[in-house]
Formats: sequence, structure tokens, C-alpha cells
Amino acid sequence: IRTRVAIIGAGPAGLLLSHLLGIAGIESVVIDQRSREEIETTIRAGILEQGTVEVLDSSGASSRVRTVGNRHDGIELRFAGAGHRIDFADLVGRGVWLYPQHEALKDLIAVRLAKGQDLRFGVTAVRVEDAASDRPRVIATDADGAPLEIEAEFVVGADGSRSVAREAVTGSSTGGYFREYPFAWFGILCEAPPSAEELIYSNSPGGFALISQRSATVQRMYFQCDPNADPNALSEEQLWEELQKRVPGTTLKEGPIFQRDVLRFRSFVAHELLNGRVALIGDAAHTVPPTGAKGMNLAVADVLVLERALRALLLDNDDRLIEAFPEKALHRIWKAQHFSWWMTNMLHVAPDASDFDRLRQLGELRSVVESEAGRRFLAEAYTGWPLEGLA
Ligand code: DHB
Repeated sequence: IRTRVAIIGAGPAGLLLSHLLGIAGIESVVIDQRSREEIETTIRAGILEQGTVEVLDSSGASSRVRTVGNRHDGIELRFAGAGHRIDFADLVGRGVWLYPQHEALKDLIAVRLAKGQDLRFGVTAVRVEDAASDRPRVIATDADGAPLEIEAEFVVGADGSRSVAREAVTGSSTGGYFREYPFAWFGILCEAPPSAEELIYSNSPGGFALISQRSATVQRMYFQCDPNADPNALSEEQLWEELQKRVPGTTLKEGPIFQRDVLRFRSFVAHELLNGRVALIGDAAHTVPPTGAKGMNLAVADVLVLERALRALLLDNDDRLIEAFPEKALHRIWKAQHFSWWMTNMLHVAPDASDFDRLRQLGELRSVVESEAGRRFLAEAYTGWPLEGLA
């Protein structure tokens, strides 16, 4: 098949890009190896920056954020047995929305299908060819295993951390800047009311915990664990004990745990984001550790930069913006890498931490919460740096 833009991956990056291109009158085909059902039910993070919500709003793709989602105007940093509120509204006049990523994906899939988007599930990209030509191609197999070839004017790899498109851009499937962490997150979903009004990011001698939420009746919580932890090794009682121990001073509202998973931690930025007429966005281009919830929001920022560049290239035959895409996207990507790394290291306890490390960490946390400049630095990053100027 032929199209103007071939997009590999129907996650937030791929779907939003197809949506914005569609509004600009640029036709695309989106493929994903997963089923629609899998995409719409896989649990991911839950925090949207205000700017992300504004992009969804202004493009008509936010149908349920404001009804199903919840606006949060702050978070609590908890350490040494006390809570410290970071008041986003007061510090930066902005907030975030608690709205699960898979709900945002349902909205995007619905709006794209309603607009007649060619969106194909169960189609597996195998490789991208002829990146340097002006007719790059995606070689894929469809749901029945039959070969499918998509010829386009531009190919976008929005195909996640195990990207197939990456090889055509960086010359290797793994090429990039990497950092591993000696811990992971144990995540649970439970049936219970919220334990607090806002999210709690807690540093404790036993390790980090995040008390997040999903709705009035369902809560999402995480605690730092060994990367090789077996999600089924602990009983429900032991999970509650572990969580409770890590938020001293707060009493968690407990309830039946109906989902558990272990999330890997890593920081990654691909060595290149563009080769000829193939670009990488979202997790295909970079991965951040989850602390601070930058993953999906960063994907949205990539989309804005790339969409504007593709408009110039495909509507005006102007390649200056596509040439500038990597530098422009990387500017924000490395800021988000730093923020995610900083939040992670400030709040987690490394398995080999010395007493010096622990006490220094408390000094760092106090430096942030006791200084308006410190709190504002966190609030600016958490609610999202301005998107103006990106597109
Ligand atoms: C959630 C995940 C995060 O990584 C975070 O920083 C905040 C919230 C969540 O899944 O609710």
C-alpha cells in the first residue's frame, strides 16, 4: 500500500501524530502489532501535563479527560516521617491531570477511526528500508502472517522501547545512551478509596513508594523492589505491609489487590533520531524511568516538533524543519531525562547506599522543600515546560 506517512506504533506518539497530520490534511497509515483490545487495556502511567491535555483538547481528542480524569494542583513529598506539599498552582499556576494512558489511547483510537484513519492492528513491522530515498518503505506482516509493504514519503518509528524502526535510523537496534538502575517498581491496582487527596512520593529507609490513584474506587500504588522480583511471590497481606512501611505517618486505605506487575527502570536516548526520511519518536527514541511520569508527555512533545516539520516537508517541500527535528526534540528530551533521573535518585534508596548517602539524600530533599526556588524547579518540570515554540 501507499500513503504519505507510514507510522509504526499505535501508542500515544503514533496515534497523536496521525491525528494532527490528519487535521493538516496529510494522510497516514498506522500499524501496530498488538490488538486494539491489548492497547486499550494495558495499564501504563497516569499523569498528563497540562500542556498535554491542552494539545488533546485543541485537536478534539480529549473527549473524557475532563470528565473521567482528575486535575491535581500539587503532590506531596514525604520523607523522615513528614509530608511536604509542592503546590503547583501557587508556584507555577499550572497543574496536571490524573488520567490513565490507556484511557487517552481509547479516545485517540475512537477519534481516528471516526475520521476514517487507516489504522491496522495485528500488523507486525519487520524492518524499514530505503531510509535515505524519498520513498522509504515499511516491510511488515499482517495478522494472518501475509507480507505487507507500505511505501510512503516518510516513515515514523513510534514503536516503543523495542523499536524495529530504530535500526534504520541508528544502524543498530540498541544504539543509544543508556543508564540502568539497581531497582524496579512493584505496581498494584486495588479496590479502595484514595488514601490522600494528592499523590504521595515517599522516601523511607526501606525504599521509595508512590501512592497514586485511578478513581474514587480504584487506586494505583508502587514500591521500589529488586529488578528480579517475582510479582507473585508476596501475599496481599505482605504487599500492604511493605507499602505501609514505606509511607510512615500516613495510613493507607487497603482493599483487594486485583493487579500486580514489576516495571523495569532505565534511561535511554537513541544516538540518532533521524536518518533521511525515517524519524523516531516516543519510547522508540527514548525511555525514562517512571518517577515523575514524563514518558507519555515527552512523546507528545516529540509529536509536536515532528508534525510541524512534516507539514513543512510534505506541504511546502521545505526540509529545514525536519533537519532541525533531532536538535529541537533532544533539547527537551535531555531535560526530561535529567528530571526523571533526579526524581528517581532523590527518592529511591540504592541497595548499596551508605549512611552518608542516606543522610545526604535527606539534605537534598530538605533543600528542595524548604526553598521556594527548589519547589518551583520541581513544579515547572512536573507540570511540564512550555510547549509553545515546539510547534
Ligand atoms: C503514576 C506513575 C508515575 O510514574 C508517576 O510519577 C505518577 C503517577 C501512575 O501510574 O499513577
